[in-house]
Amino acid sequence: MRRKIIAANWKMNMTNDEAEGFLETFLLEVGDEKRVDVVLVPSFTTLAKVSEKLSSVQNVKLGAQNMHWEKPGAFTGEISAEMLRELFVRYVVLGHSERRALFGETDAIVNKKTKAALAATMTPIVCIGETLAERDAGQVETVLETQLRGSLADLTPAQIEDLVLAYEPVWAIGTGRTATPQQAQEAHAFIRKTLAAISDDAIAGKVRIQYGGSVKPANTADLMSQPDIDGALVGGASLEPRGFAEIIQATCGTLG
Ligand code: 13P
Repeated sequence: MRRKIIAANWKMNMTNDEAEGFLETFLLEVGDEKRVDVVLVPSFTTLAKVSEKLSSVQNVKLGAQNMHWEKPGAFTGEISAEMLRELFVRYVVLGHSERRALFGETDAIVNKKTKAALAATMTPIVCIGETLAERDAGQVETVLETQLRGSLADLTPAQIEDLVLAYEPVWAIGTGRTATPQQAQEAHAFIRKTLAAISDDAIAGKVRIQYGGSVKPANTADLMSQPDIDGALVGGASLEPRGFAEIIQATCGTLG
């Protein structure tokens, strides 16, 4: 049984004051819910504040939105794994479609970052997903397989077991146009089948695959009830503390 994982990707939003306000409400709402893993992924400038606020909280973990693969050195503007570990960051989102489309991240870059995160004992959340043009051209499986094989190249089965994947169809991100539960399930099942080909059935059965793209409280239960959907990576709806807590509660409601 895979434990569901719900993460809030705040993207380039929230000042420290706003993050503090979010936490005040959110931590009350989420209480000591432990049936799913909960991760907050704030911006770099709010990581320290959120880390401090979560230091006495057991059931909410911290993630970062990106990191560089190199050890500390002359890489102006970049953030190392060591810097994130110092702030008790446990997860790192890698290869988000916004980074791929707007900042030139390739599968090869995502691969380097994934290896560096694993070496630093952080859990990578590796994002993959097709554009609308690719879906319309019938290329969903080709795109997902290429991204998966490229991003996870040369990882050992044990390393693959340690990561989380996020299927985020680009056309569903920030558009209000969610993939139907069936579309998402189909893609997740294909991703798991590809993982089995890269590693083996047992490992593929253990890897958690999140869905991301216009997840909100109202569509959470239907998505999270799908057999191969193991959580959500939430953008816009994660900026609202009550709404994000509702997504967590709706997910818990799908558990047996
Ligand atoms: P939205 O939930 O705003 O569609 O964003 C999804 C996403 O990109 C999460 O990483």
